[in-house]
Amino acid sequence: MADTSAHLVIKDLVVAPKSELTKHILDGITLTIRPGEVHAIMGPNGSGKTTLSYALMGHPGYEIISGEVHWKGQNLLDFSPDQRSRFGLFLAFQYPTAIPGLSVASFLRTAMNARRSGLVRDPEFDPSDPVKGGMTMGEFRKLVKEKLTQLKMDEAFMTRYVNDGFSGGEKKRLEMLQMALMKPEMAVLDETDSGLDIDALRIVAEGVNTMLSPELGVLVITHYQRLLDYLKPQFVHVLARGRIVTSGGPELAHRLEKEGYAPILAENGINPTADEAAAPPVAPAGA
Ligand SMILES: Nc1ncnc2c1ncn2[C@@H]1O[C@H](COP(=O)(O)OP(=O)(O)O)[C@@H](O)[C@H]1O
Ligand SMILES: [Mg+2]
Repeated sequence: MADTSAHLVIKDLVVAPKSELTKHILDGITLTIRPGEVHAIMGPNGSGKTTLSYALMGHPGYEIISGEVHWKGQNLLDFSPDQRSRFGLFLAFQYPTAIPGLSVASFLRTAMNARRSGLVRDPEFDPSDPVKGGMTMGEFRKLVKEKLTQLKMDEAFMTRYVNDGFSGGEKKRLEMLQMALMKPEMAVLDETDSGLDIDALRIVAEGVNTMLSPELGVLVITHYQRLLDYLKPQFVHVLARGRIVTSGGPELAHRLEKEGYAPILAENGINPTADEAAAPPVAPAGA
């Protein structure tokens, strides 16, 4: 068997809301993402996109009915959301919460130290002691400065409160800064926020593009075809009714843009509802 220890492997995943266990929103998702690969999942409204990102995140409102998710050779579903992050998985929240009183700098430093302390917290770990695996304030500042430059962000950002009064674009910038500092090996980005303007899409795409590496796997979940103009996935999957109905390369996204979902669903034995047949939205006009 091939070495899958660095892959995210999703196998026959069936997911239901905790409140309605017989409703299988995801009805057998199978997908493997290897380091260096960029995958996009696209699907009509209600197809299960957000549920997939919630399931990977460990959202308490959803139950894994059956199936498996392996990451680095371990059962990801055994881990808490916090452990998933320590384990090198970055899951972008669709609706980031504001935390008045907590500065971006403190937030990021805490997050980075948590990531550095490893999957199993080492009792010897001291966040402020470089000898004990921690990071000095000077080290942290230097690193942040480097990433701010890389993402073309202003330093003033660091003293603001987390997401407090942030514009959609600023929330996305913080998300990208967080990702740059956490250095995940797998990033799952759910970009289905309907309030997302074209500027925010560009921030995410450019941010991810600057971080692409042979070690990073990326899964972008989107219903905005336009995102894929900036971020180039090698693999595109079409999700409908909780299943991946077909997979292909970038040409599949272009076909969706031209034809909408209806022909592709019909070819795969699904008689699309009016909702499903609606063309994938281009991003709403923005600044
Ligand atoms: N917690 C929940 N309880 C009941 N139904 C849900 C829940 N979450 C999602 N659904 C339903 O599951 C389907 C897929 O939802 P979702 O994953 O949000 O789709 P998408 O992100 O592709 O639009 C929708 O019909 C939605 O109403
Ligand atoms: Mg959604």
